[in-house]
Amino acid sequence: MSAESASTDTTEFTNQNLEVLYDESQIRDRIVDLGKQITAEYRDRDLVLVGVLKGSCVFMADLMRAIDLQMTIDFMAVSSYKDGTVSTGDVEILKDLSNPIRQKDVIVVEDIVDTGLTLSRLLEILSSRGANSIKLATFLDKPEPRIKTELKIDYTGFVVPNRFLVGYGLDAAGRYRNLPFIAAVRDPSAA
Ligand code: IMP
Ligand code: MG
Repeated sequence: MSAESASTDTTEFTNQNLEVLYDESQIRDRIVDLGKQITAEYRDRDLVLVGVLKGSCVFMADLMRAIDLQMTIDFMAVSSYKDGTVSTGDVEILKDLSNPIRQKDVIVVEDIVDTGLTLSRLLEILSSRGANSIKLATFLDKPEPRIKTELKIDYTGFVVPNRFLVGYGLDAAGRYRNLPFIAAVRDPSAA
C-alpha cells in the first residue's frame, strides 16, 4: 500500500462516520472499578451474572474477568417489539436461562439502558423465579429517553448523551458490535 493511500483509506475501526466517546483504556479502567465494587459486595454470596444477548457479550466478557469471586454466568436473549423505532415494552424471550436462579444472587448485565422498557419487563419476568436478589449492571446509561424512570440501575459503566451509540457490543442493524471502543454515529442515515 502506498503512503498516499494509507493516509486516506479508512477501515471499520477508523470509519469517519464514528466519533469515539470512550476508548479501550477508558473502558478497561472503568470495568476494573466496577469489578472491584462487585467483588467487595458479593463476597460469600451465590453470584450469577445474566448477560442479555447479544449486546452485552463484550461487556460481560470483560466484567466477569474483573470479578475475583467464585461465580457462574448465564445468558438470555430477548427481542423488544418496536413500534417503528420506539420500544413498546413488550418483550419476547428468544432464549431463556439455562439454569434456575432460585436462591441465587443475580446481576443482570445489559449493554445500554435507554427507555428502560426492555429491562423493566425482563426484571418482572425474572422476579417470579425465587432469586435471593436481582441487581442490574449496564455498561451505558442513556437517561434522557427513559420512560421507566423508577428503574434502579445498581452498576453503571458510563452515563451517556442521547445519541445513537455503537461498538463494544452495541450495534446498528447488526453492524459495529466488534468495535473495541464506544462511538457515536455522526450521520445515522449513513450507518
Ligand atoms: P430500551 O427498552 O429502550 O431501554 O432498549 C434498550 C435496548 O435498545 C438496548 O439493550 C439496545 O439493544 C438498544 N439500544 C438503545 N439505545 C441504543 C444505542 O444508542 N445504540 C445501540 N443500541 C441501542
Ligand atoms: Mg440490548
